[in-house]
Amino acid sequence: MDAWLRSRADVRAQRGLVRGTEPQTGLVDLASNDYLGLAGDPRLAAAAAEAVARYGTGARASRVVCGTTGAHQELERQLCLLTGQETSLAFSSGYTANLGVVTALGGPGTLMIHDAHVHASLRDGIRLSRSPAVAVAHQDIAGIRAALAGRTQPRAVVVLESIYSVLGDAAPLAEAAALCAEFDALLLVDEAHGIGVAGAGRGAVHAAGLAGAAHVAVTATLSKALGSQGGAVLGSALLREHLVNTARTFIFDTALAPAAAAAAGEAARIVLAEPGLARRVLENAAALARRCGTQLAAGAVQSIPVGSAERAASLAAGLRAAGVAVGCFRPPSVPDGVSRLRLTARANLTKAELEQAAGAVALAVGDAAGNAVAGDRVAGGPVAGTADRAGAMA
Ligand SMILES: Cc1ncc(COP(=O)(O)O)c(C=O)c1O
Repeated sequence: MDAWLRSRADVRAQRGLVRGTEPQTGLVDLASNDYLGLAGDPRLAAAAAEAVARYGTGARASRVVCGTTGAHQELERQLCLLTGQETSLAFSSGYTANLGVVTALGGPGTLMIHDAHVHASLRDGIRLSRSPAVAVAHQDIAGIRAALAGRTQPRAVVVLESIYSVLGDAAPLAEAAALCAEFDALLLVDEAHGIGVAGAGRGAVHAAGLAGAAHVAVTATLSKALGSQGGAVLGSALLREHLVNTARTFIFDTALAPAAAAAAGEAARIVLAEPGLARRVLENAAALARRCGTQLAAGAVQSIPVGSAERAASLAAGLRAAGVAVGCFRPPSVPDGVSRLRLTARANLTKAELEQAAGAVALAVGDAAGNAVAGDRVAGGPVAGTADRAGAMA
């Protein structure tokens, strides 16, 4: 085994694909998903500390045994208030929420139709579900229609992200929902990068007037804009009941730690009460795009195609040396030849941080930002060279 592990490490090194886990401190953060700056908010810390004092550090068991606490119930209530959904069910991560709902809805009788760019957790869920599956090209509504029209299975689920984690563009939710209504299918929208950012923080599904629609369900992570840890599925009471009884990542997993649930519940309350937070992240994203010379995306993510994995890694290292942390997306997170730098805006970026970071990025990527890979567009429309995505690390 060691010889094989060494040979795999050598191949990664040759291809510029080595990833690391070192802490990155003292840098201007354009890499994290803490879009609203809530991960460091004292109100979340106080909610978490209170939950530890009250319930202990661990949940002790699965939710269906004795792992549910008042913190979980309050979190689920706050998520419903924020998103306008009828029910919500908290999972221990966004990854397990996606895996759980897709496998619980899937099987041989359910056709899974998904955008080629959906997150690795959704793709893994589709694989595990043993459903027949169709990957449509990114943002290809006509492809979704064709797959729905040609289906032979009794059920179908269309799987999209509201704001795509790597490209930063927005899905055409209204058109997709209309198609699902027409063909009696369920639209499953991963709002990992939408909640807290789009629709005054209430998410893109709410903004599209689709919250509570019977043919639309949502998944969320609590670990990005909500500054905590965990995930959730939001939708009808019927869906929640099905998941509690069949979603394997809900049943066979210890419940989310009460402290994480309490912090996320407090974050959801803050996002709803303070819509200025979502406004600020979008303003900072626009300022960042303007100063870096990139195209404005739909949410907090700016995606700059830079070509090879080696080039992406060397640009990211150069930016690190200049005091700026950016996301560096290489295969398998993106297809070969379209590696990217991913910049994320935060509501709490200071003007000085923004100027320092944007100056360094503009200098480093120069023509990469201005001369994006031919045909590459960020907001809406097809993106060149991205027909399939093997997974994501966002
Ligand atoms: C689109 C998307 N869905 C799901 C996840 C998984 O969420 P979590 O990190 O909470 O497991 C992520 C990122 O990690 C993501 O970007």
